[in-house]
Amino acid sequence: MKVTVGVCGGIAAYKAAELVRALEKHALDVHVVMTEAAQHFVQPLTFAALTGHKVITGLWNGSEQPGADAASAIEHMDAAQTTDALVVAPATANTLAKFAHGIADDFLSALYLATTAPVIVAPAMNVNMWEHAATRANIETLAARNVHIVSPEAGYLACGMTGAGRLAETDAIVDAVLGVLGRRNDLTGETVLVTAGGTREALDPVRFLGNRSSGKMGYAMAEAAQRRGARVILVTAPTALRAPANVEVVPVVTTEEMRHAVLGRLDQSTIVIKAAAVADYRPRVQADQKLRRSGPLTLELEPTQDILAEVVAQRRPGMLVIGFAAETHDALSHGRDKLLRKGADAIVLNDVSREGVGFDADRNAVTFLTRDRAMELPEMRKRELADHILDEILTLRRPRKVMDESDVPVSGA
Ligand code: CTP
Repeated sequence: MKVTVGVCGGIAAYKAAELVRALEKHALDVHVVMTEAAQHFVQPLTFAALTGHKVITGLWNGSEQPGADAASAIEHMDAAQTTDALVVAPATANTLAKFAHGIADDFLSALYLATTAPVIVAPAMNVNMWEHAATRANIETLAARNVHIVSPEAGYLACGMTGAGRLAETDAIVDAVLGVLGRRNDLTGETVLVTAGGTREALDPVRFLGNRSSGKMGYAMAEAAQRRGARVILVTAPTALRAPANVEVVPVVTTEEMRHAVLGRLDQSTIVIKAAAVADYRPRVQADQKLRRSGPLTLELEPTQDILAEVVAQRRPGMLVIGFAAETHDALSHGRDKLLRKGADAIVLNDVSREGVGFDADRNAVTFLTRDRAMELPEMRKRELADHILDEILTLRRPRKVMDESDVPVSGA
C-alpha cells in the first residue's frame, strides 16, 4: 500500500524521517512531499534516500522555463489518485489553515484537495498558535470533514514554552495510519466488555432516579475496540444512541440488571471497561402505582451493589479492569482513592465541572490514572479519545518503554 507523507516547515520536520522509517517497517510504500518551508529544516535528499523515491518539493518541479515540464504540473493528480493515505507530519498552522479553506497554492495543499484517500494530520507548533481560535476552528472544520487529527502532546517546546504543541509520538501517528488503512488490529483475540449509559432506578411505574450520562463515551469505546479487531459486548443502560456496527448489545435498565449482564459475561471477557454511570442508590420500595402529590415526600434509598468491585473480586488472571470516575471537585485525589479502593487496573478520570466536556458533550478530556502514573489526555472528540484510552489500556499489557514529561507519578503532589 502506498502512503504519502507530507512534511511541513517546523522544528519537528526532522521527526518525519523517523516516521517514514516506522511506516516502511509496516511494509508500506512511502512517498514524501515537502513544502517549501520544510526544505529549510531538512534536505529532500534525506527522504529520497530513505524511501528510494523522488521527493516532491513543489508544484513546478524542474520547470524553470515555462511549459518545460507538463508532467510535473499534473503530478499532484497522479499522486492524489494513487495514494492509499495522506499523512501530514508535522502539520503547521499554515498548512492546516490552507486545508481547512481549500487553498491549493503548493503541491501538498493541491494534493490534499485532489485526493479522496483518508487524511491524517499530526500538528506541531507553538502552544499559543495551537490554542489560537483560528487554529481551533480549522481543526474543527477538518475533523468534521473526517480528517484524522493526531493531537500534539503537552511538554517542553522548542520555542522555550511549555504546553500542547509537540508533535505526537511516532507510534501514535503510525497507529493512526494503520487505523485508516484498516491495518490496526491490535485488539484481535480480545473480548472487550463495555458498559455505557446511566442506569435508572424506578420510583413508580412512570418515574425513575437517573443521571446525566449520555452513553457517548462508552459507545465510542465500544466502536473503537471493535474497529481494532476486538469482539465487543456492549452492556448499555438506556441512551438515545445508535449502537455501533458489529457489536453485541445487551440492553439493561437498572443497576441490578447491569450487574447480572456483566457478571454473567465475565468468563468470556478479557478487558472490562466500565464507562457506565451506575446509580449508587435505589428507592427501598418501588410503588406499584403512580405516586400522587400529597405534601412533602421523603424517599428512602438503599445502596446498590458496586459492580466494579465485584468484577475485580471475580477477575481471572490477565483480565484488565478499567473504571471511569466523573468528579466535580478534587478530581485527582478522588480518582486515586477510587483506583486503590476498587482495585481496578486504571481509572479514566473525568472532571465534569469543566465546561463543554464530559456529560452529554461530544468532546472530553480525561486523565488516565494507574497506580504509577497519571496520563493527561487533552480535550478532543470522544471517538478519538476512545482510541487514546485503548492505547493506554494496551500499555498495561506490556512494560512501558519510555517515560515522557507528561507522566506524573500518582504518589506525587
Ligand atoms: N460503579 C459500579 N457499580 C456501582 C457504582 C459505580 O460498577 N454501583 C463503577 C462505575 O461504572 C465506574 C466506577 O465504578 O466505572 C466509578 O463510579 P463512581 O460512581 O464514580 O464511583 P462510586 O463507587 O459511586 O464512588 P463515589 O460515590 O465515592 O463517587
